[in-house]
Amino acid sequence: MRDDLYEGKAKQVRLLPNGLAEIYFKDDATAGNGKKRATFPGKGELCCRISERLLAYLAREQIPTHLVQRKDERTLICRAVEIIPLEVVVRFAVAGSLCTRTGLPYGHPCTPPVCELYYKRDDLSDPLINDDHVRLLGIASPAELATLRSLALTAAQALRTLFLQADVALFDLKFEFGRADGRVWLADEISPDTCRFRDVHSGQVLDKDVFRQDLAELVPTYAALLARLEKIPALQVPAFSHQEVA
Ligand code: TMP
Repeated sequence: MRDDLYEGKAKQVRLLPNGLAEIYFKDDATAGNGKKRATFPGKGELCCRISERLLAYLAREQIPTHLVQRKDERTLICRAVEIIPLEVVVRFAVAGSLCTRTGLPYGHPCTPPVCELYYKRDDLSDPLINDDHVRLLGIASPAELATLRSLALTAAQALRTLFLQADVALFDLKFEFGRADGRVWLADEISPDTCRFRDVHSGQVLDKDVFRQDLAELVPTYAALLARLEKIPALQVPAFSHQEVA
């Protein structure tokens, strides 16, 4: 396998010269740790556009993100980072695996928000782990862990407040982080593939749960979400973000 190419389930990452990487958003979707798979023409473009807007917004909110600029309809140019193998989930309301794990009812508020760590290991089905396991595995230093937890909570709160302007409730989301230039960067994507969005009034599902639970068509759902987000003034930004690459 080429060592400058990483093939993920929904994205392809290609390392470029000058400390950059190209992230190409595919039309593939998986659920249940890859057990359910489908291809949705147009999904990659929608996730790319939504991620670009949200990452650029967070950068303006002083969160260090890996985004440099969008290259085309489904490709982002990003700072190349060494991905820390953790999925950092922030929850504002109980759903998904937290319902299963705690028995709490769907929609029960998480006040204050709950932050969880999952070990990114497909062969182990991405298990839930705690800080001691992170130390045992040597995944991240205590300082890095403190930083990424704080960044995750700050970024999630900022997004939650933002989405309320479009009557969208953020139930939960998953972040990934990476290292470059001696610091921690918010990496990967932020899209309906990695967040749970609900209509504030009707509770309508506006994210990948439509595929996980066979609730509705995925592409029209993602397109409707993007249309709602595009109406938020703070997301009506120029097509390209402005982060400098050192
Ligand atoms: P969960 O309820 O299945 O644990 O998911 C919590 C959030 O994390 C939800 O918004 C979906 C997101 N997520 C991912 O983005 N990738 C994953 O592999 C998993 C398991 C969850």
